[in-house]
Amino acid sequence: MKSGALIKKIILPIKRDDRGFLVYGEANNQLPFEIKRVFYIGDVESGGNRGHHAHKENILALFCIQGKSLIKLDNGTDKAEVWLDSPNEGLLINPLIWHSMEEFSKDTILLCLASLPYNESDYLRDYEDFKIHIKKG
Ligand code: TYD
Repeated sequence: MKSGALIKKIILPIKRDDRGFLVYGEANNQLPFEIKRVFYIGDVESGGNRGHHAHKENILALFCIQGKSLIKLDNGTDKAEVWLDSPNEGLLINPLIWHSMEEFSKDTILLCLASLPYNESDYLRDYEDFKIHIKKG
């Protein structure tokens, strides 16, 4: 399985002291786009999964701020997998990357920052449609 350029990690500054940790990121600085939307996912059963889609234009930055999740990426040619299990280590998911979030732990919370407002027509939710979309360029 090739990982190549598919895995684009974002490492945010983390400040730890006796009060705990604090992680921060600013748009167009550590986060390479203007954030238009935030959503987060939790209370998924242990071993459960979400996603299984690609976006036409939306860019995502994904952080597992609690627990862990195995992120699977597929650009139609290459596939990659990466565990997210640190609150300051995230993944940039560009458009036209089929992605799923898998192997959740019971306490997992995934924070997702998005470059565009929610728009269902931006989603490719069928893998064969995704492949056709990529071929069309
Ligand atoms: P869905 O895209 O199905 O989740 P997954 O990432 O696991 O595929 O989203 C679940 C529901 O939430 C669906 O009805 C669409 C809605 N939703 C919004 O209204 N706004 C959002 O920003 C997101 C991500 C989802």
